[in-house]
Amino acid sequence: MAVPETVATALDDRAVAGKRCLEAGAGAGSATLGLLSEGAREVFAVTNDREHAETVRERVGGDGRVCTLEADLREVPLPDDTFEVVTAHALFNVVTTAELPAIADELTRVAAPGAQLVVDDYAPLPESAAMADLFALENAAGELATGRQPLTFYPASLLRSVFESHGWTFERRRTLLDPVPWTDSHVQTHADVAREAAASLDGDLGDALTAEADRLVETIGSESAGEMYSLAFRFDS
Ligand SMILES: C[S@@+](CC[C@H](N)C(=O)[O-])C[C@H]1O[C@@H](n2cnc3c(N)ncnc32)[C@H](O)[C@@H]1O
Repeated sequence: MAVPETVATALDDRAVAGKRCLEAGAGAGSATLGLLSEGAREVFAVTNDREHAETVRERVGGDGRVCTLEADLREVPLPDDTFEVVTAHALFNVVTTAELPAIADELTRVAAPGAQLVVDDYAPLPESAAMADLFALENAAGELATGRQPLTFYPASLLRSVFESHGWTFERRRTLLDPVPWTDSHVQTHADVAREAAASLDGDLGDALTAEADRLVETIGSESAGEMYSLAFRFDS
């Protein structure tokens, strides 16, 4: 299995070989795959989504160094001072501002002295990007349907200051993608999330949001816009 280039670039200047690692927000497990290929001693892959946990098990579960854990990163059942490498690859864009502080606390609590942290994410899109309209629609429909905004794009400077305020020393910033290629499959996936939320709303509002999702899929097709960045930190305290 190939390690995605973004993950490989984010890890290639980090010392991973022989280290105990945590992938925070395992999703498809791409960062776990990257950590394994860099020679990690073991990797705990944590997600709060059952289907994602299954995907990770199917993808890398055969490797005896991996433990996949279904848990909430705001209160993760792992001991203090444990992990020498922590990755959050594309985690924070699905974390709200209300959830962010507790996750930063927990990632810091489980980090061993001298640990490395890699935070990769998408910068806020320029207003001129059509994808920004689709993400805004997804957030509006999600918030109306569930009271929770599904997406938040944090500037690198904000995540940097969050972790610096938790005692992490900033080491470097890298660009992983510029621009980010949002494919027609990404567009469809995000439109589907908006449509699903819209379908749970009564009456004209749900219909109007669905129609807007359809219109944006037609208009956007695919688009290259925005940046994906990588921040690296060390925990010296
Ligand atoms: C976009 S995916 C990350 C991609 C992944 N790191 C990779 O490299 O393939 C985000 C993941 O974070 C998980 N997540 C979001 N909030 C979480 C929380 N509070 N606790 C645990 N997992 C969380 C989501 O369920 C999802 O599995």
